[in-house]
Amino acid sequence: MTVANLQVSGLSKRYGDFVALAPTDLDVAQGEFLTLLGPSGSGKTTLLSLIAGLSQPDAGAIRINGTDVTYGAPYERDIGMVFQNYALFPHMTVAENIAFPLQMRRTDAQTARKMVMNALEMVHLPHVAERYPRELSGGQQQRIALARCMVYRPSIILMDEPLGALDKKLRDHMQLEIKRIHRELGTTIVYVTHDQEEAMTMSDRICLMNAGEIAQLGTPDDLYFRPKSVFVADFLGESNLLDATVLERAGDQVRVAMPGVEGANGAGAMVYDPQVERGRPVKLMLRPQNLHVRDAQSRTDGMATISATLTDIMVTGGMTKLYLQSDVTGGKTGKDGESGKSLVAAFPTHRQGNRFEIGQTLGLAWHADDAVAIAG
Ligand SMILES: Nc1ncnc2c1ncn2[C@@H]1O[C@H](COP(=O)(O)OP(=O)(O)OP(=O)(O)O)[C@@H](O)[C@H]1O
Ligand SMILES: [Mg+2]
Repeated sequence: MTVANLQVSGLSKRYGDFVALAPTDLDVAQGEFLTLLGPSGSGKTTLLSLIAGLSQPDAGAIRINGTDVTYGAPYERDIGMVFQNYALFPHMTVAENIAFPLQMRRTDAQTARKMVMNALEMVHLPHVAERYPRELSGGQQQRIALARCMVYRPSIILMDEPLGALDKKLRDHMQLEIKRIHRELGTTIVYVTHDQEEAMTMSDRICLMNAGEIAQLGTPDDLYFRPKSVFVADFLGESNLLDATVLERAGDQVRVAMPGVEGANGAGAMVYDPQVERGRPVKLMLRPQNLHVRDAQSRTDGMATISATLTDIMVTGGMTKLYLQSDVTGGKTGKDGESGKSLVAAFPTHRQGNRFEIGQTLGLAWHADDAVAIAG
């Protein structure tokens, strides 16, 4: 890790009695791409606005390269911002739009022109300099907004759902563009999205927020494979969460008892939470791709297995998903009504089609290494 150039400590914000941001600590390293991810209303924009200086905190401090900027004006912070809705000035050409922050900083005209062209080349749009924003597509406008924010080389760029208004294909393309620009400039970026896939593909680290607090901060791998709570397991990707009870723990491994798994030894799982100890009820997290589907009779080589009835098959291009019902409680997340008994398993689609039939009873087996016991 290099020198942290953005440091947030004990930062909080209330609106009346409502806590929009509970006291929050967050260090963003120089050159890091950090994403604030979370459901609507979880405090992402609140935190970003405080960092930008667009609103003031009730308590806490913000430091940029060690300097306290908590109550400084936005323009003193050397921060660039890009919002969801481009916010280009409609009466100015693209070049004038991009030159605007340079004029504000009294850059001389000749230098400014050079910097504008560089910024336009950076977003691969040198040919639109003389056009007006209305003569550009949504994606082009967003790239101009990006160019305008980058042109004065701020040391930190904040982006609040910058791709929210774009269609899927353009969004995918722009994700790559932003990553490329991030690599080329080496700027620290704090990026906001509520799209978990976008967060997974773009970020060095993800700060997952829930109800004004950090639910978990870590690499995409940390959050996906080592979630600290059911909320995190549920928010990132699909997961099956099954009720279980801890039989014994040794280091980062546990054995759990759970309905549907036979034998006094129960099933093995990984554990990353020091609070999870013997006798404790937990949720066993199993990702769909880690559930191995077997004919009910077949042997499972010592892997824990539960049986379930196939209710639905979905072929989503490269992946096939099986939806199943079992007697095991807990179930797949996010499905209401079904008293949580539905499970999902996923595997690459086979070119010869699938061999399963709805109504069939199947075994679902997993490796202990792929299961995570989470405090329930
Ligand atoms: N000016 C305000 N006055 C009162 N409440 C506010 C104000 N701004 C935000 N809030 C509340 O604070 C909470 C957090 O809002 P925030 O905009 O940070 O959410 P968010 O995570 O950015 O959500 P979204 O994904 O919908 O943009 C919300 O419940 C919101 O209603
Ligand atoms: Mg927001």
